[in-house]
Amino acid sequence: MLVSCLKLNGVRPLYSVIRKSSQKVEDILCLYGDETYDFKDRYRVLDEKDYSRFISQRSMKREPAITRSMTSLAYKIGKEMISLAEGMPNEQIFPFDRIEISTKTGGKILLEGDELDMSLQYLPSQGLPSLLSLLREFQQDVHRPPPLERDVLITNGSQHGIYQCVDLLVDPGDPVITTEFTFTGFNSALRPYDPEILAIPEDEDGLIPSLLEECLSQRSALGQRMPRLLYTIPTGNNPTGTVLPAHRRRQIYELACKYDFLIVEDDPYAFLNYTDTRPPSFLSMDQCGRVIRLDSVSKVVCAGLRGAWATLPAPLLHRAELHMQAELLHPCTLAQVILHRVLEARGSLAAHVERTRALCRQRRDALGAALAGARDLPQFARWDTPRAGLFYWLTLHDVPDAYDMAFRTALSHGLLVCPGQAFTFATRAPAPHVRLTFTRAPLAALRGAAERLRDVLRAESARPPRRLRATDG
Ligand SMILES: Cc1ncc(COP(=O)(O)O)c(C=O)c1O
Repeated sequence: MLVSCLKLNGVRPLYSVIRKSSQKVEDILCLYGDETYDFKDRYRVLDEKDYSRFISQRSMKREPAITRSMTSLAYKIGKEMISLAEGMPNEQIFPFDRIEISTKTGGKILLEGDELDMSLQYLPSQGLPSLLSLLREFQQDVHRPPPLERDVLITNGSQHGIYQCVDLLVDPGDPVITTEFTFTGFNSALRPYDPEILAIPEDEDGLIPSLLEECLSQRSALGQRMPRLLYTIPTGNNPTGTVLPAHRRRQIYELACKYDFLIVEDDPYAFLNYTDTRPPSFLSMDQCGRVIRLDSVSKVVCAGLRGAWATLPAPLLHRAELHMQAELLHPCTLAQVILHRVLEARGSLAAHVERTRALCRQRRDALGAALAGARDLPQFARWDTPRAGLFYWLTLHDVPDAYDMAFRTALSHGLLVCPGQAFTFATRAPAPHVRLTFTRAPLAALRGAAERLRDVLRAESARPPRRLRATDG
């Protein structure tokens, strides 16, 4: 019995998301549209064998850790089993008796007894089973994804999910599609693979599908290696703050079907969308099994919890779980228990997210007003109001490379700004951009910050070009 279970564990069909009648979701959490899609009538729905062409050679070599399979079994089988198999410490040695967390709105998370013991113990690598069940329902309600065998994996922040995707899907030298400016964490994860970056320009609505198609059709006509992966931050691209409208998402999804690539939808700012539109997530249109979605509570609840999860087609999840076994065993159990409590109180979560969005929007508007009001600053830089996320993205008129400006002049004026190079793969190429985070600095400091920035830009544009960067030695 055990042996056959173990064998099964290597290729077991993972839990599929059960398509129940969806619960009504609080508006702020709703990430699906009214539209019906016909992708599956026109394109192939990927099956288990299809995924082998996307999985990296490195990931293909992974094998289940037998000890981890034992832990999964112990969780599934329950208490009547006597386990002499797992390397678990006895709960009696855990020194904590009670953990109580009170919330700012009068709520309480109390852990004691068996629940506390469980919160301090090892887990199966996929995640805390009760949290997984909750997330399956949560994803169903929030996205209403088309029926397909997919499941969730708890990750240690969505940066970890990004790293998992790169390990899972990228081979050295692979072409990879991103936006021209994208999240540093993705580029950092990719760098050791020496990828060929296909950086697609954005306009105020984000990635431009016609340019993506042009790039893909040209490569195909020239017989060049085709990308297997597109990484996108659809709502509040970091750093540009764009939101991909619904019709562009649909076009990009269609291109994924037509040119045979997978979409990694990294969406930590999904609930920090300041526009009146709620474009559907890529997951909500994924009829053909081409989307890996990364969710995180870092930007709307708290970042240190590392509360995040990936939702992906079952054959990919299995490989990612093997990576997790080798890398972490599993993300912190206590954090998963807290995340469970945060997500199960759906009404309180929605109210909290709404307050967070209001706070961020107020700060976005305050920094926007400060930038516009700082005399002469608009002469030195151009920017759009970010539609989602945490950042202003400035294009500088007279400073061709913001790197030295950020590390020398801005610092000497008592101002920290992030130079544009942080968001390109070619970090040593000049970038006339800076990213400004509007969420954390005190409201009262934003006017002064804009004035300092104006002084920095004035000083920089009057200076002859430098040859060396501040960090070059
Ligand atoms: C687009 C994007 N993805 C992922 C992350 C990392 O989030 P987490 O804290 O969940 O690892 C960030 C953080 O800045 C981000 O901007």
